[in-house]
Amino acid sequence: MAVLRIARMGHPVLKKAAQPVADATAPEIQRLIADMRETLPEAGGIGLAAPQVFVSRRVVVLDVPDDRYESEGDASPEASLPGVLINPVLTPMSEERAVAYEACLSVPGLTGPVPRFTRIGWTALDARGRPISGEAQGFAARVLQHECDHLDGILYPMRMTDVAELGFTEEVRRSLSHAEPETEDA
Ligand code: NI
Repeated sequence: MAVLRIARMGHPVLKKAAQPVADATAPEIQRLIADMRETLPEAGGIGLAAPQVFVSRRVVVLDVPDDRYESEGDASPEASLPGVLINPVLTPMSEERAVAYEACLSVPGLTGPVPRFTRIGWTALDARGRPISGEAQGFAARVLQHECDHLDGILYPMRMTDVAELGFTEEVRRSLSHAEPETEDA
């Protein structure tokens, strides 16, 4: 296993749609997953998509802390997201969106408010290539949308309704007396 370098905004790999994985059990995919799982905690993030490590394939690795589900009011085991999603597909379950601050390992130091669907259904393959599916809401739904956007060449600033709200996390924290922005990197 290896800790991988993270691509930053401006690199072309982050702008293009990633290729689907044909065989999840292929050695290069298994190595990619292992390396991404090692890289994620090292980078201090909660989610990582393969294009962020310069690999244009539809693979996402997640490590969302349990207390984030609890803070959203859904701590049931079904609410937990899998650690690995291959070829994920998201389907909004309602038109309702919520705005919250996001941050990204590929856009270091910055944060901004992003509208996201509050409830989504998801399907994917697990690390062994078996079909998995579930529903996510709140923070978990947000993380999934952020990561899956990476697979389509979209970074969160492109989802902001007002790019004037993009700022350095330190400055935004200072200016927001009423609420701390959610700034876990994903
Ligand atoms: Ni990101």
